[in-house]
Amino acid sequence: MSFFSERYREMTPGSRRLYERARRVTPGGVSHNLRYFAPYPLFVERADGAYVWDVDGNRYVDLWMGHYAHILGHRPRPVMERFLAQAAEGAHWGIVHPLQVELAETLVRLLPAAEEVRFCVSGTEATMYAVRLARAFTGRKVVLKARGGWHGGNSDLARAVHAPMELPESAGLPPGVDEAVDAFSYNDFEDTRRAVERYGSELAAVILEPVQNAFVPPEPGYLQRVRELTERAGALLILDEVITGFRLGLTGAQGFYGVTPDLFTLGKVVGGGMPVAVIAGRREILERASPLAGLGKGEAVLAGGGTFSAMPAAMAAGLAMVGYLEEQAPALYEELEAKGERLRRGLEEAFAAAGLPARVFGVGSLFSVAFPDPPEAEIRNNEDVERKTDLYRRDHQFRLGMLAHGVYLVNGGGALSTAHGEEEIERVLEAAAEVAKEMALHAGEAPGRG
Ligand SMILES: Cc1ncc(COP(=O)(O)O)c(C=O)c1O
Repeated sequence: MSFFSERYREMTPGSRRLYERARRVTPGGVSHNLRYFAPYPLFVERADGAYVWDVDGNRYVDLWMGHYAHILGHRPRPVMERFLAQAAEGAHWGIVHPLQVELAETLVRLLPAAEEVRFCVSGTEATMYAVRLARAFTGRKVVLKARGGWHGGNSDLARAVHAPMELPESAGLPPGVDEAVDAFSYNDFEDTRRAVERYGSELAAVILEPVQNAFVPPEPGYLQRVRELTERAGALLILDEVITGFRLGLTGAQGFYGVTPDLFTLGKVVGGGMPVAVIAGRREILERASPLAGLGKGEAVLAGGGTFSAMPAAMAAGLAMVGYLEEQAPALYEELEAKGERLRRGLEEAFAAAGLPARVFGVGSLFSVAFPDPPEAEIRNNEDVERKTDLYRRDHQFRLGMLAHGVYLVNGGGALSTAHGEEEIERVLEAAAEVAKEMALHAGEAPGRG
């Protein structure tokens, strides 16, 4: 057993017991494979501000923040008050209500590319509907995505997420996904151009995360050039802003980088901690989903549906979240950016001091650490992180090491919130300095399975 696994086991006997129960009744003991790690995942029972507590009473600075959803930390008062008040009046009705109009109006007012919005409950659904709208609107078949891009579990985009990129992401996909979806290298304009030109008039849309989830930022001009490419090809540009929406600022990545998509998606932050996702964009495209469009079967687009879509408690949480962010911007985002920068520089210093080759990426309040192999390998996108880093072994050591020093993170990175102050950032950097030394010392250990 590795040094890191052994120490983790010693401090988390309660998680181990729960995991033994969980795996008897749930595949792998988890409902999202990302939440699993060896030897078993950490079971948490309480969260507040920048912290989570596990079932053994250990406290951690949380950098995962509910899959990056909690930009104000856990249980932020302005959001909780409004959410709880609405939940007491009725969490879910399945009938239209004033709050959904208010949130939709707010989003249309704030987000440059939103002429209309439609609500659903997950980013997976939002990207599925966006792609469907794009295919229907253009009358074309092929969608291009970036290699390593993650748009949720929907079948339409279940391609080229993890290495080896050419193999299907899942068994059981509908036939033809591999013909209708192809991929290009993010941040590699020439490769992107070749892919767009390969499909020409068959291309319905390019979908991409403005910042991929290893948080390597877009190279200057890349997103604008992709925008021009899609325009020339008569295809749509879909920005998946599930992470970047309200994370990089009130206007998302579209405002931050100055690029206007035809369609875009939101999730995570916009729901104030509740399951809310959004398909947004040009009116003439979204109107294909309207019951008033007068379109016949086969022409109208099924984009929406879902028992819990626009449920009042979630709309209340979303309104409180977006309202608070709007009230506090731009100072709130400037502060988050400054904290993010301090964390990224501090992490770089910690690894450099330990003589461990590591690269720290990020933008705004997002950060990630990668361990390039060889050390000088160029890393421009998620695909490079998959191929040119010691992804599984080093990430695993880093994660278990940080846990032992009281910090919870996933995929070697995370997101800061307004609840992370000086004290928490200091704690993370002290933990990283210790873990970097431990990783240098235990460099030869294989990833802990047991
Ligand atoms: C960019 C992006 N798109 C889509 C999704 C899927 O969203 P959800 O998990 O809400 O289905 C995610 C989730 O991590 C994401 O990061």
